[in-house]
Amino acid sequence: MENSKQGWLLLVEILLILNLPYSLAFGGNENKINTAVFLSPKFVLGPGSVENRFYYNVDFPRGHIALKSFNAEVIDEAGNPVPLHETYLHHWVVDRYFVREGVEMSEFDDHARLNRSDYISGRNSGICQDGSIGQFFGLGSETRKTATHIPDPYGIEISNPAEIPSGFEEQWMLNVHAIDTRGAEDRLGCTECRCDLYNVTVDEYGRPLRPDYKGGLLCCYDRTRCKVKQGFGGVRRTLYLRYTVKWVDMDSSVLPVKVYIFDITDTWKRTRTSTGINAEHHCKVEYDIEPCRETGLTDDGCIDSRRISLDMPFGGYLIYGVAHQHSGGTGSALYREDGQVMCSSSPTYGDGEEPGNEAGYIVGMTTCYPQPGAIEISKGETLILESNYSSIRHHTGVMGLFYILVADQLPKPMHTLHTVNQIQDSITPVAILEAVVAMIGVVAVIAVAIHYRFKRGGEDGYEAIGM
Ligand SMILES: *[C@@H]1O[C@H](CO)[C@@H](O)[C@H](O)[C@H]1NC(C)=O
Ligand SMILES: *[C@@H]1O[C@H](CO)[C@@H](O)[C@H](O)[C@H]1NC(C)=O
Ligand SMILES: *[C@@H]1O[C@H](CO)[C@@H](O)[C@H](O)[C@H]1NC(C)=O
Repeated sequence: MENSKQGWLLLVEILLILNLPYSLAFGGNENKINTAVFLSPKFVLGPGSVENRFYYNVDFPRGHIALKSFNAEVIDEAGNPVPLHETYLHHWVVDRYFVREGVEMSEFDDHARLNRSDYISGRNSGICQDGSIGQFFGLGSETRKTATHIPDPYGIEISNPAEIPSGFEEQWMLNVHAIDTRGAEDRLGCTECRCDLYNVTVDEYGRPLRPDYKGGLLCCYDRTRCKVKQGFGGVRRTLYLRYTVKWVDMDSSVLPVKVYIFDITDTWKRTRTSTGINAEHHCKVEYDIEPCRETGLTDDGCIDSRRISLDMPFGGYLIYGVAHQHSGGTGSALYREDGQVMCSSSPTYGDGEEPGNEAGYIVGMTTCYPQPGAIEISKGETLILESNYSSIRHHTGVMGLFYILVADQLPKPMHTLHTVNQIQDSITPVAILEAVVAMIGVVAVIAVAIHYRFKRGGEDGYEAIGM
């Protein structure tokens, strides 16, 4: 309790600091940021084993709200973070869906067995199709050091009653793909799902793999096992994905952003009749990097650089961008057709042992937070996506995704940073007096909120742990 009290006071202080310029200019009616920490259903891994589970109807904030961030990490039963060299987090994704009221979505259901008439995908705004890359959030090994927060006044609006089909309920699916590489004969090979290490020749559904398929998700599906050094004894252990969601209540001060994801393997090509819209996109998700000594392209510094052009079926203002790459990745960027960089996102590799800094793994991706309004995308504009990997060695099953958040609107002219700066530049005694009054108001409101929260005690309804 003492800890949580301190946490709250700290939060209050931070809110005060963050709110001040806003309060100065607009009277301080900023939304309160809520935080909840949830655990995925548990999964059990022994050396070499793989879990790729689809957990339906997971714990998630409810109500008409705007999401502000989503962070996650793998922990053990004692709540300790587990390093990537023990449990490699291949990926996790969070998908929205709508389910017919009264239909139970088992948390451990096989996603292939869903009855389609009871289930409607609530996928992101684009641009892949055919059920691929429909998530709102999703990262992999880089989760611990990748910023996901969405700056004010923006947020991802969810549970808008107007968007939920009648007779249906909005729920969330969490897919966690984790590989236990303790004692692995070839750690990197296991994380790259190399078929020979998994002794896999048929896919999850028993269909033979193409002979030239050397590695990727088709070889490290749920319950497969990667080769472990002979005689290695390691215990099976229980793990969880712990995820932290922040949000604000939805109201007119929040401007919604849409989630778009581009995939470097998208086979979309402009044709005379193409419109750049969804149905023409086929995202294969994974690709391989051939070693430069075999391709003979050593004079490019052994960088595999892929580029694709995509026509944007939407327009708006870029608010946030981040790429997702696997080990070997050296950076990814989104360009305008004239070569101007819109957003570039590069991996950070760890150089130690501790969680968040594991040597050789991508432990974070840099992100873009352009000034709202500074980068506008026009509907129909052609953008270029680039994904670079080192080709010094062979890689299988790598990825090149690029997430962007796009807003339709900018804050009302009065709300621009420019205006705030002007107000701060010309601080007058009256402005200071106003600020003090506004601050007293904010303190009073927060004091009441804290009092209310402590009075309510544990009625919070969310499974908040570790606070
Ligand atoms: C799917 O649901 C529909 C309507 O609820 C029902 O008629 C049908 O039998 C179900 N199919 C399966 C395979 O369960
Ligand atoms: C690999 O799989 C084959 C057939 O699925 C099996 O006969 C063989 O014993 C396996 N090898 C190892 C090393 O597990
Ligand atoms: C990708 O590689 C190309 C060729 O080496 C280089 O020109 C480009 O700047 C790289 N882009 C990123 C985002 O690292």
